[in-house]
Amino acid sequence: MLYKKLEEQLRQAVAQVVPDADLNTVQVRPCPDPKFGDYQSNSLMALAKERKKNPRQIATEVVAKLDVSALAEPVEIAGPGFLNFRAKKEALGAVLKEAREGQHLFYATARQPRTIIVDFSSPNVAKAMHVGHIRSTILGDAITRILRLLGHRVITDNHIGDWGTQFGKLLVGWKRELNEQALAADPLAEMERLYKKVNAEFEQNEEIATQARQELVKLQNGDPEDNAIWKRMIELSLHEFDKIYARLGVKFDHALGESYYNSALKGVVQRLRDIGLASESEGATVVFFQDIPELKEQPAIIQKSDGGANYTTTDLATINYRIETWKPDEIVYVTDSRQQLHFKQLFAIFRRWMPDVKVRLSHVWFGMILGPDNKPFKTRTGENIKLTDLLNEAEERALAVVTEKNPELAEAERKEIARIVGLGAIKYSDLAPNRQSDYVFSWEKMLALNGNTAPYLQYAYTRVRSIFRKAAESVSTPLEPIFGLKEPDELTLAKHLVTFGLVLEAVADDYRPNYLCTYLYELAGHFARFYENCPVLKAEPQEKADRLALCELTGRVLKQGLNVLGIETTERM
Ligand code: ARG
Repeated sequence: MLYKKLEEQLRQAVAQVVPDADLNTVQVRPCPDPKFGDYQSNSLMALAKERKKNPRQIATEVVAKLDVSALAEPVEIAGPGFLNFRAKKEALGAVLKEAREGQHLFYATARQPRTIIVDFSSPNVAKAMHVGHIRSTILGDAITRILRLLGHRVITDNHIGDWGTQFGKLLVGWKRELNEQALAADPLAEMERLYKKVNAEFEQNEEIATQARQELVKLQNGDPEDNAIWKRMIELSLHEFDKIYARLGVKFDHALGESYYNSALKGVVQRLRDIGLASESEGATVVFFQDIPELKEQPAIIQKSDGGANYTTTDLATINYRIETWKPDEIVYVTDSRQQLHFKQLFAIFRRWMPDVKVRLSHVWFGMILGPDNKPFKTRTGENIKLTDLLNEAEERALAVVTEKNPELAEAERKEIARIVGLGAIKYSDLAPNRQSDYVFSWEKMLALNGNTAPYLQYAYTRVRSIFRKAAESVSTPLEPIFGLKEPDELTLAKHLVTFGLVLEAVADDYRPNYLCTYLYELAGHFARFYENCPVLKAEPQEKADRLALCELTGRVLKQGLNVLGIETTERM
């Protein structure tokens, strides 16, 4: 990989000039502005600052020791001490050749693979998944796929919400007025109906409230009837969730729900009391964060005054289990932005509880999906959107688009393409915006064949494939590519292709799949300009070979890039 080689050389030069430097901090990244170069390093400025030296001075000394003449034009020192590199065509050509021969696809797997647990999706049982859970599912799956592509050991765990006070109310509703027929037709809707009904009466009706509390206690104490009903609620829910996961192509290594940790909760509370982290406050057991300014006013309850544990207690037991079982380097939690306080508190407690455990804890949070009225995305009547309906509608709308473009294809084929395009559009519209901003859900936008959308990228891929169908018709034996890259559009495309790995790494560092979306969108744009300005099939033999190889590599990167976003491609559309 070109940037890796540049980085390697740069590190060697830095080691000579600044022997005590931490070379891991010396990095080469794409240059933000192609006017100045293809790659850039700003690492020397930090090194100089730490040592109170003049950065330009250090840069000059490093450049004097730096030999990258095989890879790049003479290195330029810019501004306060940036190094700018412009790749040589021969070096680019060599990387393209390696990829062409199957040595790599412009990325390298991690030298030190990490064990990373990704906790995502995690819906609550007896309730339909909402659009927030779908966003967690799509983001978590993409993050998992990208980390795995880069060679990390990823363990996925669906932390299902299958325990809590809601079961008291659910049990009352179930026993009082379960409609078995409705349950068979739509289990989640029926359970939600039961819950809402009891919940509405709960406040006014003392008798119902008492019943709900009693059922909850019975469940907690192992009452066989209540436990059997509870298990059935979980089974029915998981079965429904699995239908959605199957359609989305998402799999989990584990689905250890909250209830899995029940027997550990008392021990966790006791332990935190014993080590003086938690204390009694108004009957509850609480952790205070006096020394953390932002949490000073936000103590965390880990045991309520009625002795019950809560979400935080369960998550503490869960971290403990994960650390013991999988010894992760990192745990990633993917949820909406409303859980930020929860995870800040959780991480703060954990750090004090196990100060010696080196694990990176990341809350990867995301914004809301809004409806056309800029309010949280709901149905017209204000209900939560049902995911099955959403996915169905995506496929139906995509079918209309596909049919308009390809009326001649058989229905079965059009439907299969529509499935790929419709689901791709939904996923991509979740992944392409900066995950921390809210975005407005729009069918028109996500299904558009132009713009930063899945259908646009999927269509770009089919264009590449159609070139090869046409190329297969010509009889001449193809030449081996040498990648002369004479045309500016060839060069731009080539330069973009070779940065694929850098982008994947940037996504992995920050859990931001939107970087990859932007990269692929730009790739499709560069490809379109290349294809418009550089004849492929009608070119002279050597140019034809070079250009076909560029097409092929573009196709492979598009397919691989979409694949790690969880998006399928199709040969035609
Ligand atoms: N079940 C929770 C919810 O729907 C999300 C759980 C996220 N994971 C966790 N370990 N807390 O809001």
